[in-house]
Amino acid sequence: MPCLVVVGGFFGDEGKGKIIAYLANKENPLVAVRGGVGPNAGHTFSYEGKTYKVRMLPSAALNPKTQLLIGAGVLINPEILFNEIKMFYSFNRTLIDAQSGIIEKAHIEKDTCIMHLKNKIGTTGTGTGPANADRAFRVLKVARDIPELTRYVGDVSNEVNDALDKNKSVLVEGTQGTFLSLFHGGYPYVTSKDVTASGICSDVGIGPKKVDDVLVVFKSYVTRVGEGPLKDEITSEDAKARGWSEYGSVTGRQRRASPFDPVLAKKAIRLNSATELAITKLDVVFPSSAGEKEFSKLSTEARRFIEDIEGETGLKVTLIGTGPELTQVIDRRGKDIANMDS
Ligand code: IMP
Ligand code: MG
Repeated sequence: MPCLVVVGGFFGDEGKGKIIAYLANKENPLVAVRGGVGPNAGHTFSYEGKTYKVRMLPSAALNPKTQLLIGAGVLINPEILFNEIKMFYSFNRTLIDAQSGIIEKAHIEKDTCIMHLKNKIGTTGTGTGPANADRAFRVLKVARDIPELTRYVGDVSNEVNDALDKNKSVLVEGTQGTFLSLFHGGYPYVTSKDVTASGICSDVGIGPKKVDDVLVVFKSYVTRVGEGPLKDEITSEDAKARGWSEYGSVTGRQRRASPFDPVLAKKAIRLNSATELAITKLDVVFPSSAGEKEFSKLSTEARRFIEDIEGETGLKVTLIGTGPELTQVIDRRGKDIANMDS
């Protein structure tokens, strides 16, 4: 992997957590580093029947050999971070950048009380937008200002670049999804930062020439929470009937849904300079693919769905999610396209 960046291709909730946790267990990166906005994102993964959710630590947390870093661009809610460090017993392998921003109570209050944020934008209410506004004002506290964080504070960009200079593998985790980007999403129905691959690299302090691969994760259908346009949105009854009805992992809100959108996917591929794709939840759209680990065993329709995406985008779908467990993946990474499955 040397430097692999993983980002979401739609509106978040594409299943990045599972893909990253899978890659971390399989490829043993020395370093996993989280970029993105902060605890407004919940990344979920299930392993050996247990489900985990991280809002601060990288989703590589299950692999005890991987260092868990959080970049300077990310906002920290210390309470959530401490709970996750305890949960994964990662006291000695967690490092947050000295300049990661700190979310305080006042930010959460603003996010949940200001009607523009709560109702018009439909934010997650986790304080991230108001904290980033304070960062732009240069009044936000950063991690080095908080004594309780001292043992976890360091220079994350140095650690990441040192690892890359030594040719060690680094897994860079994005949060949210391309069309929630403050710059490239459907403003104003967006989050408070750029969350495309370039933004995520900036968050963790690596330059564009350090990146080897960009994996963009799409779900087999599109979901969105909060306000803003969603092309071909289906009713919540229809979503329930199709099994597409989901609830936000941070807010518990019902997610809106629409079919896979190849036009959005192609735009996301450009914005992120994707080199490979992952498609998650194939089993939700094609139930016969549940738990499948071999592409050749998928139904004709399920295979065609993937092949159509490859045909339209010109990129290989290297990972396909076929169920919630980490191991329920069809892994075509590193295989030659010519004799990939047939
Ligand atoms: P904020 O990021 O909490 O300010 O919310 C702004 C918009 O981004 C809202 O529509 C949220 O629902 C959405 N959003 C933020 N983070 C995520 C995420 O991780 N998954 C899905 N939607 C998100
Ligand atoms: Mg999520």
